[in-house]
Amino acid sequence: MRLFTEIIPPAYFLPGFCLTVAVLVLLSCVQNAIHNLPYYRIPAVGMSRWSLFDRQANVRFMASARALIREGFEQGHTMFQAMFPHGPMLVLHPKYVDEVRRHPSLSLEEAVKESLPVGDYPGFEAFRGTENHHILLDVINQKITRNLKQYTISLARETELTLDEHFGQPQEWKSYCFASEVPYIVARLSTLVFLGEQVCRDTEWLDISVNYTLDIFGAITALRRWPPILRPVVHWFLEPAQKLRKRVQVARRIVQREMRRRQHEHKPRQPDALDWLHEVAGGRHLDVTTAQIGLTLVTIHTTSNLLTNVIYDLAANPQYLPPLREEIQSVLETDGTFHKTSLTKMKLLDSVVKESQRLNPPGLTSLHRYAMEEITLSDATVIPKGASLVVSAHTMQDESIYLNAHTYDGYRFYRKRQEPGHENKHQLVMTSAEHYGFGHGVRACPGRFFATNEIKILLAHIILKYDIRFPDGQSRPVNWEIGQDLVCDQTVQVLFRAR
Ligand code: HEM
Repeated sequence: MRLFTEIIPPAYFLPGFCLTVAVLVLLSCVQNAIHNLPYYRIPAVGMSRWSLFDRQANVRFMASARALIREGFEQGHTMFQAMFPHGPMLVLHPKYVDEVRRHPSLSLEEAVKESLPVGDYPGFEAFRGTENHHILLDVINQKITRNLKQYTISLARETELTLDEHFGQPQEWKSYCFASEVPYIVARLSTLVFLGEQVCRDTEWLDISVNYTLDIFGAITALRRWPPILRPVVHWFLEPAQKLRKRVQVARRIVQREMRRRQHEHKPRQPDALDWLHEVAGGRHLDVTTAQIGLTLVTIHTTSNLLTNVIYDLAANPQYLPPLREEIQSVLETDGTFHKTSLTKMKLLDSVVKESQRLNPPGLTSLHRYAMEEITLSDATVIPKGASLVVSAHTMQDESIYLNAHTYDGYRFYRKRQEPGHENKHQLVMTSAEHYGFGHGVRACPGRFFATNEIKILLAHIILKYDIRFPDGQSRPVNWEIGQDLVCDQTVQVLFRAR
């Protein structure tokens, strides 16, 4: 310390400190600006070539992504750049979807890492592409998907209980905000398979399952407002990040309590993701709580969003309810109860969901990737090394592929499946270059088999138990468009009446 004061006299401490902070912040701003510089020679829409002076580009994209993406293609480009929330992103025409899905140098993990300012900050663990993620993928692919058969009956039982709690048996039309009820229903059913029967009824866990995802996106938005260099300090003080850390603490307590409980339980029970995580990890380092939160992050709101869209489409098109009931009842009469194979036989139900997803995919774009090296596509289009890209999803409403592409047709995929040779191609779980609501290719959503099962079980119960409609004067609400994300209207009321 004495040596220090000999070199720098005390009078210079404060100005010196302030100067150092100012230089660091300036450097960070320059680093940020360089990161936000547009890609050289690639056409830009909604942003100037000099993004340093175009502070509105991001605001413009968040408010009107659909119009900007349309503008890019109408100008005749097959690849252009737009200012996404984390910086410039290349938007590719759907004709490249097969090349993108196959290319070994286009990475999903790197794309996620590059776009999210989550560092090593506590609370954000679920987004970190660590060993946990690979264990999680193996658990989903090798365990959850393969054990759907065992879980179908218990999921159907839990569905009855939870629907009764949420909607009861109203004898007159009763109004519900379906979009805010459904995440808790989905959380309860998903947790049955992820953490077992005890935890799936624990309201504290359900609260985490539903709200961790909302909080993490809130915290990311708050972090993005700060220069990168300050984020490692600032995150400790940001309220959404504090909330996130508390949620992880509570989650850890609940998961550990469940693990302890199991050590003393001697009754046989169905294995679930908590068992499978340990089994699949096989000695590799594993943070079980982070893995469980990771599961909820990818499951609850994606599934709830699709379910809500289906309910909105059915409430707006009630003519589908009688044939759906007929299909579900006839399958149940033959099978006696809900088996995995019973759900496969419900082809109209499958078609109705796939059609809702076609018109209301999770986003205007899909297949978010990062170029690990410079890539030349088959038509000589060059993707620079280090670029982030997405593929536009507008092909799902393309008139040249889908007749009356903008009109809801619940029978669309049912009819396609009647064509010889197409019996399976148009199932909800199948992805294609024409329908990539679950992504496409090797990185397509591994949870789609589980999500489809859960969605069909829930819908079959709702359709058999209730009449549904919109209040008079309410039509099918349009989605909220937040940048490239499509979120179903979270406020609309749906009327339910017990049958
Ligand atoms: C309707 C519900 C769901 C939708 C619409 C959906 C959609 C998607 C999409 C679009 C992707 C990106 C694919 C790509 O970039 O090619 C994805 C990835 C992923 N999904 Fe889903 N998902 C759903 C449910 C689930 C569920 C229930 C799980 C877990 C059980 C899950 C686990 C994952 C995982 C782990 C990834 C990353 C895959 C990887 O790293 O290779 N998803 N999902």
